[in-house]
Amino acid sequence: MRIIEAKDYADMSRKAANVISAQVILEPRSVLGLATGSTPIGAYSQLIDWYKKGDIDFSLTKSVNLDEYIGLDGSDDQSYRYFMNRNFFDSINIKKENTFVPNGKAADMEAECKRYDELIDSLGGIDLQLLGIGHDGHIGFNEPGAAFEKTTHIVELEEATIKANARFFGSEDKVPKKAITMGIKSIMQARKLLLIANGPDKRDIVEKALHGPVTPMVPASILQFHPNLTVVYCFN
Ligand code: PGA
Repeated sequence: MRIIEAKDYADMSRKAANVISAQVILEPRSVLGLATGSTPIGAYSQLIDWYKKGDIDFSLTKSVNLDEYIGLDGSDDQSYRYFMNRNFFDSINIKKENTFVPNGKAADMEAECKRYDELIDSLGGIDLQLLGIGHDGHIGFNEPGAAFEKTTHIVELEEATIKANARFFGSEDKVPKKAITMGIKSIMQARKLLLIANGPDKRDIVEKALHGPVTPMVPASILQFHPNLTVVYCFN
């Protein structure tokens, strides 16, 4: 495990963007595993900046996202597909058809889980997976108690997650109650992991995840077993 302490959010974002950029420069055909949330926005905007300066080319790169709300169409401004387009894909030269987010509107969600796992396999697996971490230790939508051996599956969101996300929806009752997420097993199969965390409120959970006992009650604690984990955090 490599742990990099950043000075502030901008520094954390730049360092994370550097890791992603190195991956794409060294292996232009990389499959990037991407994440939503407030934490990665700075890294995405740094990558956009470097792309605009001509330093990175995403034309051969592919991406798979961790999760999506069930019931939201990709055109819904709260969907994770929309988030990725607006915060990253629309501003770089990745081909849209090479960007994948689980389909939250699939008629058969079980079949969608299977399709997503097969898709990741068919791309040759994930080269570098970017991860945020929730206050309860969740990664993707894998909440405390999630089985470590799961691949893509459907989850009922915890009350705390619904509350945390209500700020984006205007009110709690508008937050979808279910999501589709890559499982811990899918995440652990990525060849490299990059976990980012920002803010004093993330200190406790990051310490538990990285240095505490490995337990499904802290889903991110399993990352201690990954052979190639980089963590960039800033607790200021
Ligand atoms: P945040 O979310 O980046 O908005 O803090 C992280 C997460 O819940 O995975």
